[in-house]
Amino acid sequence: MTASLFKRLRFRICRRTTFWFLLLWVACWIFVSTFLLVHRNVFSEHCTDEKSKRILARLCQDYLEGTLTGDLCEDLCVAQKLVYKRCLYCDRGKKVIQADWHGHPTILKSKHDFFSSYQRLSLLGETDNQDLPEAELLLLVAVEVKNVLGLDLSNSTSLPLWTEGGRSPYWKAQMSSMWSLLQQEEYVYFSLLQDVSKHVLHVVGTCGHFYAVEYLTAGHAWHQTIFSLENVDGLRFAGGKNKKKAIYDIALSFLDMVNHFENDFSHRLHLCDIKPENFAIRKDLTVVVIDMDMVFFEPKMRDILEQNCTQDEDCNFFDCFSKCDLRINKCGAERSNNNLQVICDKIFRRWFSPGILGSSISFPPQLRKTVHSCAESKRTYISSRGGPLAFLSELHNLLQVSRRALQQEDD
Ligand SMILES: Nc1ncnc2c1ncn2[C@@H]1O[C@H](COP(=O)(O)OP(=O)(O)O)[C@@H](O)[C@H]1O
Ligand SMILES: [Mg+2]
Repeated sequence: MTASLFKRLRFRICRRTTFWFLLLWVACWIFVSTFLLVHRNVFSEHCTDEKSKRILARLCQDYLEGTLTGDLCEDLCVAQKLVYKRCLYCDRGKKVIQADWHGHPTILKSKHDFFSSYQRLSLLGETDNQDLPEAELLLLVAVEVKNVLGLDLSNSTSLPLWTEGGRSPYWKAQMSSMWSLLQQEEYVYFSLLQDVSKHVLHVVGTCGHFYAVEYLTAGHAWHQTIFSLENVDGLRFAGGKNKKKAIYDIALSFLDMVNHFENDFSHRLHLCDIKPENFAIRKDLTVVVIDMDMVFFEPKMRDILEQNCTQDEDCNFFDCFSKCDLRINKCGAERSNNNLQVICDKIFRRWFSPGILGSSISFPPQLRKTVHSCAESKRTYISSRGGPLAFLSELHNLLQVSRRALQQEDD
């Protein structure tokens, strides 16, 4: 009798202790997460207002001394129409700064903090005059662009920042600034593709080694719908149904982008770092790649993938995989998965899995099933141009039908 009483008492104490322990653990977890979220700046060593302002001040000093130039320098350094707002990111040394330009938000980017960190154009050091033949300079730029993109450009391609015509007194600063920009792969991609693709960011101007791009609604892994839908035209008071419509439209734009990168350039364009943070949406819900540090055209992709290996895992380059040929211990040059499979896995699965967006938003089971198969196909397929992209048309149809059904409910 007493023994069983003790046993029950001990069980209760044990249960109570476990309960308090769990509660304490949850409280600690919430506290630490909130603290990290609020004080992100503290932990990203370089991303403070003070440091960012110092970097821009140095940029302006270099501008005023005539070392660098660009169409935004006057607004940033003299007229104060381009004003620092906050530092967004500085991982791996890359600077991403939000600024206000004539009252509109814009983003300033540069791979390195200071102009002096970029390689100098040695030709400029040798000759102070402006006698360098135009053709020689053009060739230099074309070779640099080829190095960055791994592409031979046709003669008709207009090169980024190439200002033809008369040489101004700032010619040397112009050339040095152009050279610092050409050393930034992302800038080269943005400037070459912006006229031919609605799925890459527009460059709105430059100052020295900094380039300014349009400010868009960026994705976040922690956001329930990945992209905040509050700023979208006509969705101000977004209810569940409007959100669902917007998600269909954004998903369709992702598919359009996949198709475009697959077929519309002379070489396939591979996205090797696919995550919500590297995409943004415009007001009309067009999907845009905002981070092109890990984007490669086919020839460069093949060079990257072709490594020595002893197993398949050695052939994974971020989101771009190939297979290890064990007879010669070399990774295949052809990528074995594709952009769509990774987008299905890392973006679509977030939207189209049961219950993820709460009980108010649910999607047709067939759509969920296809997204799941598309995401899982990367484990089973060896890609060929038509292969797993078969999911493209299936997903496209399903999304359009679902979108139309939703519209009909409204009519
Ligand atoms: N054009 C933009 N509009 C809005 N936010 C942006 C833009 N560009 C970058 N960001 C924000 O800054 C973050 C970091 O930029 P990104 O270019 O991805 O740098 P990194 O190469 O260091 O990842 C993005 O995840 C996004 O939140
Ligand atoms: Mg990024």
